[in-house]
Amino acid sequence: VVVTPTVESVHAAAARTRGLVGETPLIRFSALEERLGREVLVKVETLQHTGSFKFRGAMAKLTSLSPEVAAAGVVAYSTGNHGLAVAEAGRRLGIGVTVVVPDDAPEVKVKRMAASGAALVRCDRFKADGEAIALALADHRGQAFVHPFNDPVVIAGQGTLTLELARQAEALGGPPDLVLVNSAGGGFVAGTILAGRAALPDAQIWSVEAEGWDAIRRTRETGVPADNLAAPRSICDAIQARRPGPVGQAIIADGLHGALAVSDDQAIDALRYAFARLRLVVEPGGVVGLAALLAGKVPDRFKRVAVILCGGNVDAERYAGWVAEADVSGE
Ligand SMILES: Cc1ncc(COP(=O)(O)O)c(C=O)c1O
Repeated sequence: VVVTPTVESVHAAAARTRGLVGETPLIRFSALEERLGREVLVKVETLQHTGSFKFRGAMAKLTSLSPEVAAAGVVAYSTGNHGLAVAEAGRRLGIGVTVVVPDDAPEVKVKRMAASGAALVRCDRFKADGEAIALALADHRGQAFVHPFNDPVVIAGQGTLTLELARQAEALGGPPDLVLVNSAGGGFVAGTILAGRAALPDAQIWSVEAEGWDAIRRTRETGVPADNLAAPRSICDAIQARRPGPVGQAIIADGLHGALAVSDDQAIDALRYAFARLRLVVEPGGVVGLAALLAGKVPDRFKRVAVILCGGNVDAERYAGWVAEADVSGE
């Protein structure tokens, strides 16, 4: 049975996580608006606890568990940000967390998960299905499995960002006409669609994926559920899901207005831009919405675009290599 979350579940998640989840800034940068010739509302979600919006979904989920289920501890599968979020939410709530994490996850994410007290189980994601391993582990131990995106409560939690964004936009000149949502499994964009129906009724919601990892875009184009099983390697480690989840797909099929994909080079350009012009550290998967804007992929008819810098967990060495070539001239 697929349980579909609703606008009400987003409001319930917001109420449950109030004071537990951080409110992150929404900022209009004049240099960016001048370059793009339109208004841009930048949601700096990299400043969320654990450095990504994933903390919202993790908190929404862990605060929804019965005391008995919470006491047993939980298992998650994650390439990084979700595991980090569940690990830290668990630490704050006193819930034991085990994370199954692929060998090639960025070291910074793995270290931070361990620092939050999570037990880690490593796997080779090109040989084994990490999600299946995590599910089997949870089943064997009698623990709840916290899915990164195919879970109505996690989706509702991700939607809380949009309630916040809509409120903040009022003070910055009004609501956006487009929201770009960095996407992989589709939980984030599904939550955004749900929250947006009530809070941003006139805004379109578009997904932005990594090129080759763009199953949401292909599904939308063909009407046939697509997957990412044959995807190439990409630097956007945070937005690599084997396939979108059915819970989110039901919402996406009905409420997504457009879908884009960006290349690794475009993501690096945007990461450099965020560093040099916005003074913000963003990871490749967290910058693809901004990358789509900077690369000219967003139609001109949208005049007030909201973009979410939704993840900032990046290995120092790789990051240093990328930004070493950033153009820091200008404002
Ligand atoms: C930084 C970042 N952006 C976007 C996403 C995509 O979220 P979803 O899988 O819900 O589409 C993730 C996680 O997968 C992420 O870590």
